[in-house]
This record gives sequence, C-alpha cells and structure tokens, in this order.
Amino acid sequence: MRILITGATGFIGRHLVAALRAQHQIAVISRQRDKAERLFGEQIPALRLDDLPNLDGYDAIINLAGEPIADRRWSVRQKQRIANSRWRLTEALLQKLAASTRPPQIWLNASAIGFYGASNAAALDENSPVAGADFAHQICQHWEQLALQAADRGCRVCLLRLGIVLSPDGGVLQRLLPLYRLGLGSRLGSGQQWISWIAIDDVLAAIAFLLQQPSCQGPYNLTAPGAVQQQVFSQQLARALERPHWLQTPAWLLRLLLGERASLLLNGPAVQPQRLLAAGFTFAYPQLDRTLHHLLGGRPVSGRAELG
Ligand SMILES: NC(=O)c1ccc[n+]([C@@H]2O[C@H](COP(=O)([O-])OP(=O)(O)OC[C@H]3O[C@@H](n4cnc5c(N)ncnc54)[C@H](OP(=O)(O)O)[C@@H]3O)[C@@H](O)[C@H]2O)c1
Repeated sequence: MRILITGATGFIGRHLVAALRAQHQIAVISRQRDKAERLFGEQIPALRLDDLPNLDGYDAIINLAGEPIADRRWSVRQKQRIANSRWRLTEALLQKLAASTRPPQIWLNASAIGFYGASNAAALDENSPVAGADFAHQICQHWEQLALQAADRGCRVCLLRLGIVLSPDGGVLQRLLPLYRLGLGSRLGSGQQWISWIAIDDVLAAIAFLLQQPSCQGPYNLTAPGAVQQQVFSQQLARALERPHWLQTPAWLLRLLLGERASLLLNGPAVQPQRLLAAGFTFAYPQLDRTLHHLLGGRPVSGRAELG
C-alpha cells in the first residue's frame, strides 16, 4: 500500500513508520521536513501539506498530528491551539480528498478515550454513552466528526480511540520513569480512577490490522483489555522497577498545580476494546504486569519492525 501519515515525527508516528516501512510505501506530512528526513532517511518522502494538490495515488491516510494535549496549561489560547492543530489539518486533508480523482480508500484517524468524557466508570465500550462534554470530549468529538466526512468520498474511516500508549521511549511512561526510579511513584487522589493503557506494540499491530480488514470502520478503542485502577498501575510500575511505593498526592494539590488538566490524572473510565476483539484482533500484551516486564525488562519495543 502507499500510505500517507501525518504526525509521523511524533511518538506513535515514529514507531508506526518503523513498523510499516518494510511492507508499504510510506510518505509523511510534516511541518518539520528536516526533522522528518533526519528521522526516516531519504526513502520516506517528507512533504509539506501545501506541496500536495490532492491525495491521488495514496491507498491510505493515517492522520495522527496534533499539538500535545497535556504539555501546557489549558489557557484559552492553548485550548485553541490543541483544537486547531487537529481540526484545521483534517479540514485541509478533506479539501485535498475532494480534489482527488483517485482518492485513498482508507482513512485511519487518531482520537482518544477522552471522547467518553471524565468519569470513573468501571466498564465502557464503543457503544457507551458519553459522560460529559468536557474539553477532551469536545476535541475528540469534532475531530472524529470531521474525519467521518471522508466516508462521503468513499473512504473506509476508522477512528482510533487511543488509551495511554505505553513505551519507555515516549509518552506518559517515559515521563514517569525518572520519578518512579527515584522512588517517587505515587497514588493520585483516590487512586480509584482507571488507567486504560495499551502497549505501543499493540497500537502498531491494531493499526496494521485495521488497514487490512475491509469490513472494519467506525470507532475502535485502542486500549488493552486489562485496564487497572491508578493505584494498581502505580504499584505495579514501582514493583517492576524494584522501587518503593508509599507516596500519595492529594487531588487538591494536582488541581492547584495543573488546573483543569488535572482531570486527565484524576478521572478515567476502564475502556474496553470491544470492537477490536469482536473483529478478531488479538492483543499481544493484554495484562499490565507482563507488559511492564516486556517494556522495561525485555527487548526494545521498536524491534517489531515488520507488520503487513
Ligand atoms: N501518546 C498517547 O498516549 C496518546 C493517547 C491518546 C491519543 N493520542 C493522540 O494520538 C496522536 C499521536 O500521538 P503522539 O503521542 O504520537 O503525539 P506527539 O508525539 O505529540 O506527536 C504529534 C505530531 O503532531 C504534529 N504536531 C504537534 N503539534 C502540532 C501543531 N501545533 N500543529 C500541527 N501539528 C502538530 C507533530 O508533527 P510535525 O511536527 O512533524 O508536523 C508531532 O510530531 C495525537 O493526536 C494524540 O493526541 C496519543
């Protein structure tokens, strides 16, 4: 397949290019072409969005790009940046899709389990009602709505509702590791909120699976079946690193330090990957303890380099 990827220079995108490049022809859209060329070499064309008149010749689009959600305080301006980085790029891609005479047949679009709103529900799946229209929900909901417009142009659209993607070389886990190695792992608030996580290996395998399954479309939770409560996640991570676990960070302190963003840490439902399982996808890393062992003690994750 010829696959065009946005956000390829990011954490998930870098792993994805490494996983898909042996089997597919990849091109990436980046605001930082030099960085993309440094990362991927000359065989992977790095394009600016404006360089593309249309999407002719690509079989699939994988749209991952977006300003990081949790890196900065959610000022009005930052919220706008988070929204626009996803919505405007997707609108521009839709315009290029409309200008295509041989358009791609597949459109995989990132989203997040933030779609379901802030709750501590013990089991949610793709058919569950949304808990509330908070900021994370609004971002995901409108992003998904835009991506679904590609279906009107004949694309098979899959919405990737990603949980917390675990890998030692990016995302949340990379940030937690220095703290936990110092023995500063902590229960956050009540610790009862759920962490719906997924190993990077399974993210890559699920994307490869959705690319290849002609009957798959609509929303898919990319979360492992074994979601755990935050205090269990924290204890297991500390144990995997052979470090003590005794600290507790009160919810009020997180709210003071992080403002509205604290909701990302203090709320979380247990999100089940019902539609992926029903479609026949098998998780290589369904349970947290083995996953942490694999990620922190085993072979490097980017070694899974060939996915069809
Ligand atoms: N990682 C997770 O655990 C997780 C969980 C849920 C959802 N997601 C979603 O999955 C997608 C990929 O995640 P990731 O962790 O790989 O993200 P990431 O490392 O932050 O990378 C995202 C990429 O998006 C582009 N980007 C960043 N800021 C932008 C802006 N202001 N305007 C336009 N493009 C911008 C960048 O590519 P260029 O500079 O090359 O253009 C960047 O490399 C994101 O949309 C994220 O929200 C991730």
